[in-house]
Amino acid sequence: MRAGIDVEVREVGLRDGLQSVSTFFPTAEKIAWVRAEAACGMPEMEVCSFVSPKLIPQFADAVEVVAGTLEIPGLSVSALTPNLKGALRGFDTGVHKLNYVTSVSESHNQSNVRRSTDESLEDFRRIVEARDHLPQAADTRLGVGLSTAWGCSIEGAVDKDATLRLAGRFVEAGADELAICDTVGYANPSEVKALLSRVVEEYGDAVDIAAHFHDTRGLGLANVYAALEAGVLRYDATLGGLGGCPYAPNATGNIVMDDLVFLLEGAGLKTGVDLDCLIEVREIITRNLPDEDLHGMYARAGAPKGFRPASRAA
Ligand code: COA
Ligand code: ZN
Repeated sequence: MRAGIDVEVREVGLRDGLQSVSTFFPTAEKIAWVRAEAACGMPEMEVCSFVSPKLIPQFADAVEVVAGTLEIPGLSVSALTPNLKGALRGFDTGVHKLNYVTSVSESHNQSNVRRSTDESLEDFRRIVEARDHLPQAADTRLGVGLSTAWGCSIEGAVDKDATLRLAGRFVEAGADELAICDTVGYANPSEVKALLSRVVEEYGDAVDIAAHFHDTRGLGLANVYAALEAGVLRYDATLGGLGGCPYAPNATGNIVMDDLVFLLEGAGLKTGVDLDCLIEVREIITRNLPDEDLHGMYARAGAPKGFRPASRAA
């Protein structure tokens, strides 16, 4: 964790947000977005995904986006990869972190990456081995996102022990970080606290623990608060809640970065991110995606009178 901050927020809009947006966001504008948000103090941003450009044309420029954003001083640049092929492309760019993804639910894993969770774990072992042997990958950290950790739109409820077991197998396989993800917005705060307390207790000493919530049913920030109580100090979010789900009309996507920073800073936790600066960056999204709905209550209502963000306290 960067010095001087209590909680690390990570912008994932360029990946989790843009992956469901069919309008191509021009490469130079993606880099401008990252540059502007990094200038607000954002410590880490997931800037793209190393997937097949045939599957998601939005990420055809992944190599260029990573190259452009690695030049931004002080920013940690991450990217998603679903497989070894993507990881090898990523290693060649020198990206700081690669986030690999596996769903706890077998059916969701099959539909997302067309293989079983066992096969996903095998592929991750190959990625770790490649990282450990390729000189250009020596400094790349490996994160693992465990999707559908609290529930799955195909299978319904997901067993907490199944999530814990899979987490343990990825830690053993060499993950540097685990992100526990409520991919479809099924979690509620009591379940969040119950599961994440155990994840932190069992694996918190071995790896960094992060949480990734979607606000599909309005519980995203409540879940963050429950995760804080469980001891989780790293959170993904997207500026303006960019994203959503192509199969659920009107559903919001990831939790809103601006509202997340308002929550944390108001609770006395330093994020190092300037909220007014963030609000201005939303304009880069609206000018490139005029048809996308952006969310966020802070952007709509403004700061409460006398509000003092923790990061600005003396
Ligand atoms: N980068 C670039 N190209 C890739 C690639 C990658 N990471 N992974 C696969 N490809 C290419 C292959 O070379 C092959 O190309 P070809 O048709 O020209 O020969 C094609 O994609 C299919 O490859 P294959 O290995 O047979 O994959 P698949 O069809 O079994 O699909 C995944 C498996 C994992 C590649 C695919 O399901 C995927 O990318 N899923 C990710 C979905 C996602 O990003 N979800 C959101 C994030 S949570
Ligand atoms: Zn997500």
